[in-house]
Formats: sequence, structure tokens, C-alpha cells
Amino acid sequence: MVDAYQPIDHEYALDRDCTTLSRHVLQQLQSFGPDAQDLSTLMNRIALAGKLVARRLSRAGLMAGALGFTGEMNVQGESVKKMDVYANEVFISVFKQSGMVCRLASEEMDEPYYIPENCPVGRYTLLYDPIDGSSNVDININVGSIFAIRQQEGEDLDGSASDLLQSGRKQIAAGYILYGPSTMLVYSIGRGVHAFTLDPSLGEFILSNEDIKIPEHGPVYSVNEGNFWQWDEGIRDYIRYMHRHDGYTARYSGALVGDFHRILFQGGVFLYPGSVKKPEGKLRLLYESAPLAFLAEQAGGRASTGIQDILDVIPDKLHARSPLVIGSTEDVALVESFIQERSRQQTEATAVR
Ligand code: AHG
Ligand code: MN
Ligand code: MN
Repeated sequence: MVDAYQPIDHEYALDRDCTTLSRHVLQQLQSFGPDAQDLSTLMNRIALAGKLVARRLSRAGLMAGALGFTGEMNVQGESVKKMDVYANEVFISVFKQSGMVCRLASEEMDEPYYIPENCPVGRYTLLYDPIDGSSNVDININVGSIFAIRQQEGEDLDGSASDLLQSGRKQIAAGYILYGPSTMLVYSIGRGVHAFTLDPSLGEFILSNEDIKIPEHGPVYSVNEGNFWQWDEGIRDYIRYMHRHDGYTARYSGALVGDFHRILFQGGVFLYPGSVKKPEGKLRLLYESAPLAFLAEQAGGRASTGIQDILDVIPDKLHARSPLVIGSTEDVALVESFIQERSRQQTEATAVR
């Protein structure tokens, strides 16, 4: 009788090495049906966009015309970098002929880009921040791309894309690409959060961390404290608490993707609160906060505006912003408790008057 086949050690390693992104999506869905194939293709396309952006970033300092500003302002009123434009176009170019999407909406475009009539049109919408943390680009520090996929609802005949103005619970997939010492792609299709590392020798994203869970608590608080005097008292109370208690440490890179990535693996909290002048803060709901909130919840963490779960916020316009508190459940709850306490005090003071 022949013994049952026993894989040897290197075969396990080989199996992991062969777990590419598209294979992983199909494995997770345990299906080869049309929806599973679509998601697998969509993720594969996003991976291609990530590789193209990573390739340019890796040589940008040696290339003419890759770094610096374009001299234009985007719809957010922010100065546009050449890499913002390049990365924005990469995603369009990758998806234009894919037959997967009907439109792409990005931080860098006033209106969504509709797939032209001479190209195959799909039923999904890609929402993305082509380069997150663009102030880091010129100095070779980590940046990212953030993405979310939603299904088109209705016909969008007037081109208003009003069906996108729904809560983050409508996302069917979300994630980011981190361009750091290595390039990583982290994604979720609502079945946990998984990280892939780009193996440059293969040109493939290979599974490196499966089913990541955010620790319930972590030491890091990540916030731009330069804005201290712009914030409401509740946030200032929280920061004072951080300063006065042992066991906390600050980390802030200027790129949300990098700061969130640290927290995803090691716990803690990232905050971009509203300010007195900008109560909604800086980060955009559809391309930044909601996709990362989807990941945070899938990893057992939380994302909040300070008073409401980010995934329940309904944007009033495509480029809507929202305050963001995201990370470990205990640390997000601690920030919320300071905000709620101040709001309770204000309500009491108003009642007395
Ligand atoms: P973007 O480059 O897409 O405009 O995003 C930058 C965001 C985010 O990545 C980062 O956390 C934050 O802006 C930094 O802003 P401050 O410089 O105001 O801290
Ligand atoms: Mn951004
Ligand atoms: Mn950006």
C-alpha cells in the first residue's frame, strides 16, 4: 500500500509563495462564479496600478519631471504634485479597458471619470486617493494609495453619481497600497483583512499576513499636534491625558496610509479631528476615511468621527470630509469619551443659562 501523500516543508512555503492576490480572492469566496471572478479581476487590476506607481516612485529621484508640483490646484484647493497626476492617470488607464467599472471617482478629479462609449463598461465604481501623503513624495518617505469598490446602483443617467452618496457600508471591497521599504497591498472584501508584499523578482503581490487583527489597545497616538489650538476642548483634553500618562507614544508620518498601517499591526489610534475653522477636518470620506474604516472594522478595530461610526456617515457630496478617529477599540473609545464629556458639560451649561 502507498502511504498518503505528505507535503514536505518547502511545499508549504511554495504554497504560500503561490498565494497571489487574485487566487486569494477566489479562495476567500470559495467560488468561481461571476461575482468572485469580478472581484478577483478588480483586485488584480488594482495590484497592477500599485506596481506601476511603485515602479515610478522607486526611480522618481532619477527621472526628469517626476517630482515637484504641477502648479495646479485640485478640487480640494490643494497644490497638485506631478505624482498625484501620474498615479491618478495610472488607475484610469488600468481600468479603462478592463470592462469592470463604469466610472472612477478620485480625490484629484472634480467629477467622476466615466468610461467612454468605445470601451467596455462594467457595473462597479472605483473610488481612490491616488497618492496619499503627497507631501512625502519629494523627500522619499512612505506614501500610499487608498481604494474602495462600490457597485453602481441605478443608471446615473444625469452623471451626478448621486448613488455614491451612501454610507461606507455599501463598500464591497477596500484597501490600500503602501509604498514603503517594500510595497504592500492590504485589502478586505468583507472577510477579514489580508496583507500582500510585492516580490520585485516575481512582480507579484504574495500573501504575507492573513486575517490581521488590530490589538484592542496600543501605545501609539498618531495626530498632528501642531493643530492643538485649532481643536475643540474634548480633543485637547485627550491629548493632555496622553501627555500626563505613562505608556503612550506619538508617531506621525504625514501619510495616513503609513500611520494607519502601523496601527493595524501594532494597535493605537490615529486622529484627524475637525478644527474650529474646518469642523469636518481634512480627510475625505469616500476615498480615505471610509475605506480605512472598512478595514479597521474587518480587523476588529473601530473608526469614528468622534460621535458616530464612520461607516454610518452619509456624505452630502462626492468630496465630503469627515473627522477621523481610527484604530484599536479601546483607544478609539478613550478619544470618544473625552469628546462626549465636553459635549455633556456644554449641554449642562446651556441648560443652566
Ligand atoms: P493627501 O496627500 O491625499 O492630500 O493626504 C494627506 C493627508 C493624510 O495622508 C495625512 O494624514 C494628512 O493629510 C496630513 O495632513 P497634515 O499635514 O495637516 O497633518
Ligand atoms: Mn490622502
Ligand atoms: Mn491624495
